[in-house]
Amino acid sequence: MPATTGKEQKLKVLIRRSAIEKRVREVARQITTDFKGQRVHLIGVLKGACIFLSDLVREINLETSIDFIAVSSYGKGKESSGQVRVLKDLDSSIEGLNVILVEDILDTGLTLSYLLRVLQQRKPKVLRVAALLDKPSRRLKQVEGDYVGFRIPNEFVVGYGLDFGERYRNLKDVCILNPPVA
Ligand code: PRP
Repeated sequence: MPATTGKEQKLKVLIRRSAIEKRVREVARQITTDFKGQRVHLIGVLKGACIFLSDLVREINLETSIDFIAVSSYGKGKESSGQVRVLKDLDSSIEGLNVILVEDILDTGLTLSYLLRVLQQRKPKVLRVAALLDKPSRRLKQVEGDYVGFRIPNEFVVGYGLDFGERYRNLKDVCILNPPVA
């Protein structure tokens, strides 16, 4: 995300914390049903997904394990090369595991498309995607989440893990940053 300009930022709540809590419980229930009796291995994409992952994993009623991966941002808001690479790799093998890749938001799909390719090569038993937010109108790559919290319009959102210049990740609601004046 680009650095802040120093201009005062306005926030408008898009999704309240109570709605997020309810939806996270529903998504976790669906995962618990889909993988009944099995272990699931959640992989969070740093940094944005850390809040969603930590809430989600506590609502999943199965044996779980977690790991994290960090990828380079490809320069959103500037010239986009569309190129992504791994900055911090997983700590352990995913071969034969039921893997759920956890994202805060699916936007152009470039990050997810790259990660699915990289992770599929490592032979998981199953590879699924959980994303709190989905902005389908921005998609450049045809990828989808298997477990999606909310489909949202093309607004710049922060909070619940999402940042602007590293700020706002700690907001409990998902908010629109500088919403257009009505
Ligand atoms: C965000 C988000 C996804 C990616 C989605 O990460 O967490 O990983 O962008 O965008 P895409 O669909 O257009 O590829 P960001 O690069 O902002 O890093 P962060 O998670 O550390 O904030």
